Amino acid sequence: MTEEFIRSIKGTQDILPSQSHRWQVLEAVIHNTMDTYGYSEIRTPAFERTELFSRGVGEETDIVSKEMYSWTDQGGENLTLKPELTAPVVRSFIQHNLGGQSPINKLYYIDALFRRERPQKGRYRQFHQFGIETFGSEHPEIDAEVIALAMSVFNDIGLTGLNLKLNSIGSPECRDNYRNALRDFLKPHFNDLSETSQKRFENNPMRILDTKIPHEIEILKEAPNISDSLTAEDKAHFEEVCSLLDAMGTQYLIESNLVRGLDYYTRTTFEITSTELGAQDAICGGGRYDGLVERLGGKPTPGIGFAAGMERILLALGDDDLSGKTTQVYIVGLGDRVRPTVAKLAEDLRQNNVRTDFDPLRRSMKAQMREANKCGATIAIIIGDKELESGQAEIKDLKTGDQEPVKIKALVDHINSLTL
Ligand code: HAM
Repeated sequence: MTEEFIRSIKGTQDILPSQSHRWQVLEAVIHNTMDTYGYSEIRTPAFERTELFSRGVGEETDIVSKEMYSWTDQGGENLTLKPELTAPVVRSFIQHNLGGQSPINKLYYIDALFRRERPQKGRYRQFHQFGIETFGSEHPEIDAEVIALAMSVFNDIGLTGLNLKLNSIGSPECRDNYRNALRDFLKPHFNDLSETSQKRFENNPMRILDTKIPHEIEILKEAPNISDSLTAEDKAHFEEVCSLLDAMGTQYLIESNLVRGLDYYTRTTFEITSTELGAQDAICGGGRYDGLVERLGGKPTPGIGFAAGMERILLALGDDDLSGKTTQVYIVGLGDRVRPTVAKLAEDLRQNNVRTDFDPLRRSMKAQMREANKCGATIAIIIGDKELESGQAEIKDLKTGDQEPVKIKALVDHINSLTL
């Protein structure tokens, strides 16, 4: 038995070499799509002042009220490992006056986040998101672009069975009206509500719409609809988002109970779920937050974004082969004298961008050939004393088994001329 400290913390995971190539493929698709859509990467620190999240995300949210990893450091500062990225990106946007440099800022990130949730499949205490935050436009065309971008990454990586759920929760004023209407409706049912929902009744009744409890879902069937509380402008905005998505051929489902668990949202909210996942089926969540920059002390600036859980994406892909790159050439070196030749050849091939490996364990020919096959190489180059003397190495095609001698000096050119 290994000691406790040698085990990773509950809810955290090592990404081992057998898996890391899948992450790299996903990351490459993300970088590529972001580039195509004109988004630039932003990287923010791993921790921030706790107040940024309590003010940005909202005191009453699950994240802030019970899931943050927070501590007071030796200098008495209250700090928190970031549980989400919208607030840090807004902080950075304000601090560096990005809005003053350009009227529109399209930013993206890939990062690790921390939430002390109950771990289960698809839910971790350290997890990864990629996401975007766009500042400066209040218009529906950017809502449609943001949603289309998310779908584009998922399509390119090969995800199927996705459902895009869309809603508008309107402006803060109409949400106040709606909260009151919802409270009036729920009052007669108060005693039938769960403890959690009873707590939410006062502070955040819209969160009750998120319930997974069957009898609450039943009660809520008759609840007033947020769409009835939207102002004419909110309605027009939402209709245009929908018609732009129609024009782009993006399918969606309007779900009026979709409120999302963070306080900063206004107008458009959306979530993308996967039929390939269990209870934790949300791959991506996002929406508009037109009041957030101002709430955190910046100039009034509309914003919209989303974040997607990368572990969940990879889970939903199952064992789909996100083909990792394997070694192309394996050099089988035999005997002490060949070592400088093998080292130089490996280096020359690598400098020519050929994925090359050799055996640093000085094993037998048989063991090295086994390794060459195991690592997926297409070509094995065999060099022993005899080959060194004749100046000709043996080249073996590991797919066909064909073997031929090639001058050691001509090896790099020869390998370069092959399609590996
Ligand atoms: P969120 O809904 O809290 O939104 O998280 C977005 C996505 O992150 C979820 O849909 C899920 O895929 C993934 N996720 C969340 N918690 C976990 C967890 N414990 N383990 C694994 N995956 C998880 C936000 O974070 C907002 N900042 C999104 C946003 C950006 N809205 C506007 N801009």
